[in-house]
Amino acid sequence: MPLASLPLPHMKSVLDFKARKGRGPKISMVSAYTHWEARFLAASPVDCVLVGDSLAVVLDGEPNTFAATPEIMARHTRAVTRGAGGKLVIADFPFLAARRGLAAAVDCAAELLRAGAHAVKIEGVDGHEDVLRHLVQSGVPVLGHLGLTPQSLHALGGNKVQGKTEAAAADLLRQARAVEAAGCFGLVLECVPSTVAAELTAAVGIPTIGIGAGPHTDGQVLVFHDLLGLNPGFDARFLRRFADAGAVVTDGLAAFSKAVAKGEYPAKKESY
Ligand code: KIV
Repeated sequence: MPLASLPLPHMKSVLDFKARKGRGPKISMVSAYTHWEARFLAASPVDCVLVGDSLAVVLDGEPNTFAATPEIMARHTRAVTRGAGGKLVIADFPFLAARRGLAAAVDCAAELLRAGAHAVKIEGVDGHEDVLRHLVQSGVPVLGHLGLTPQSLHALGGNKVQGKTEAAAADLLRQARAVEAAGCFGLVLECVPSTVAAELTAAVGIPTIGIGAGPHTDGQVLVFHDLLGLNPGFDARFLRRFADAGAVVTDGLAAFSKAVAKGEYPAKKESY
């Protein structure tokens, strides 16, 4: 697909992102990791791209996101931004990268922005508000991430819905306010009850992006492979498969193998 034929990007910066709060349309975000995924997204109306550390699970078959490093995230960020047609690209701070002090966090942000990201996403807030604030004040836009934060998997006792009790919901509200106070331009809410996501969305002046957080957030994010049916092993209540690309791939591979076995491929016009 020649880049020149791609439509103009809809959302180019965090300013466009923030302007959607309360005004709409709701923000669509997709986690993607490779150049060609980004090219498909560039040619789609999806608003923005997240280079998620979920790449460790989806691409590499790891059991969790811990294997992602700043180097790995930068490599995929570079590939994605080269294909994203100028759309807003946000790159994940990987496991513990926000917990090694300000200098290490600045180094990680520098690596991701040099690779082409326009912003970074950082899980959690307690104990590293200073990192969020320092990056924002250094000119690095930061997207927060609360609720189920997969980098804290072991502390949370697994991939569980968060904020289910009144006290836990109140604590999430406190954290959401801290994320906003630190200067973050938006907030991902992962796996929280719809009522809690609605309350948090009303309480903060920055857009909230939900995954497993019901319909009342300012936008939604899903992983490219999950929403297109390319990850048939993954199932979650929140997941809707908007296409069955897995079946198309399976059929295509079977057709190729059959054509080769029967000597039907290559035909004369496919030969030199
Ligand atoms: O890593 C990721 O893809 C994410 C989204 C699912 C929010 O953090």
